[in-house]
Amino acid sequence: MISGDALGVALPPQPGARYPEAHSQRGRLVDRRRDIERPSPLPQHILSSTQFDRGFLDYLYTLTTTIRRFDKSREGLGYLQSLLPHKRAMLYFTQPSTRTFLSFQSACHVLGISASEIRDAATSSERKGESVEDSLRTFSSYVDLIIMRSPIAGLCERVAQLLDGTPRPVPIVNAGSGPDEHPTQALLDIYTLRRSLRLGGGIDGKTICMVGDLKRGRTVRSLARLLTNYDDVRIVFASPPAFRIAEDLRHDLSVSGLKFHETDDFEAAIADADAIYMTRIQDEYDAVGAEPVDTSRFHLTAAHLPRLKTDAVIMHPLPRRDELDVAIDDDPRAKYWRQERNGMWVRVALLTMLFGVDDRVQLPEL
Ligand code: CP
Repeated sequence: MISGDALGVALPPQPGARYPEAHSQRGRLVDRRRDIERPSPLPQHILSSTQFDRGFLDYLYTLTTTIRRFDKSREGLGYLQSLLPHKRAMLYFTQPSTRTFLSFQSACHVLGISASEIRDAATSSERKGESVEDSLRTFSSYVDLIIMRSPIAGLCERVAQLLDGTPRPVPIVNAGSGPDEHPTQALLDIYTLRRSLRLGGGIDGKTICMVGDLKRGRTVRSLARLLTNYDDVRIVFASPPAFRIAEDLRHDLSVSGLKFHETDDFEAAIADADAIYMTRIQDEYDAVGAEPVDTSRFHLTAAHLPRLKTDAVIMHPLPRRDELDVAIDDDPRAKYWRQERNGMWVRVALLTMLFGVDDRVQLPEL
C-alpha cells in the first residue's frame, strides 16, 4: 500500500470506513453528514444511468477526486499503473467517437490495463456474417472487460445478459448505445456540475436547462435520469417542437417526481438557468430525405453571455457545431473542456470499481 505522505494525500486507517462528505456552501465548508460508503455490491456492468443512486455517485466522485491527486506525482501515477497491469480491455466502437474512445483508452493506460480496439465492424468477422453477439462473446475469450459503443439501442444489455450465462462473463461498459443511453457521459457531466456548482451549494435545488436535439440526444436522456438522484432539481428542456424529449423519458421523469418544463423559448430558459447543457443536432439518425429542422433560434452565442447568471455553468458533451459559439470558450463559465478532462478521471475511478481495486485508493478524511 502506498503511503499517504508520498502522495500528499491524507489516508485514513481503515479501508471501507464511513466518511462524512463536506460540501462547500457559498465558499464555506459545510459538513452535510452524508456518509460515503463503498457501494455493495459493486456494479458488474455499466449499462444505464438508471442503475446508480446517490450513495454510488457520492462514492464515485470522492474516489475520482482522490485519484486525480495521484496524477500530481510520479509515485502516484506509478501506483495507479500498478493496480491492474494483469487486465486486458477491448474497446469495441462501431460508431464514431473521439472523446469517449480516447478517455477510456487513456483511463486503461492510467491503470496499467492493456487495451485492444475494433473501430469498424467491417474490419472484423462480422463482415463474413458473424453475428454481433458472437463477435462480442469472442472478445470475452481474450479480454477481461468490454467497453462498447454501438448504434444499436439495447445491445449492451443483451450482451451483458448473454455473457453472464457463459463460463467467462466479463464486465460490459456502455460507451453510447444509439440514441438511447450514454451513462458514463452522464456520470462525468454530474461530476463537472458538482464541482462547478460547489460554491453555490451543489446540484440540489438548481435549475438545469438542456438545449438542442432532446429527442435523440443520448447524453440528455442519461443525464436527466441521473439528475433524479438530487433534491429539488428542476430541468428546463428547450428545443424546437420536433426535438422535444421522447415519451419514455417524459414518463420516467414524471414518475420520479423531478420537476421539469418543456419550452421553445430559448432566451427565457437560459436566463433563468444555473447550468446550460447545450447539445448537437443528431442528424445521423435522420430518415433519408428528411427536411432539416431550423434550430438557429437555439444557438448560444457570445451575445447571450451578459444575460446569463454570473455564476451560470455552460456545458456541452461535444462535439459541437454552430449551436455553441467558439467565442464563448474563454468565458470563465464555459466548462466543456474541463468536462472532457473530468471524463477520463471519472472513467479511471469506474474501472477501479469494476475490478474491485477501488479500496486500494483510500478516500481522504474530509
Ligand atoms: N461526448 C462524446 O460522447 O463524444 P465522442 O462522440 O467524441 O465520444
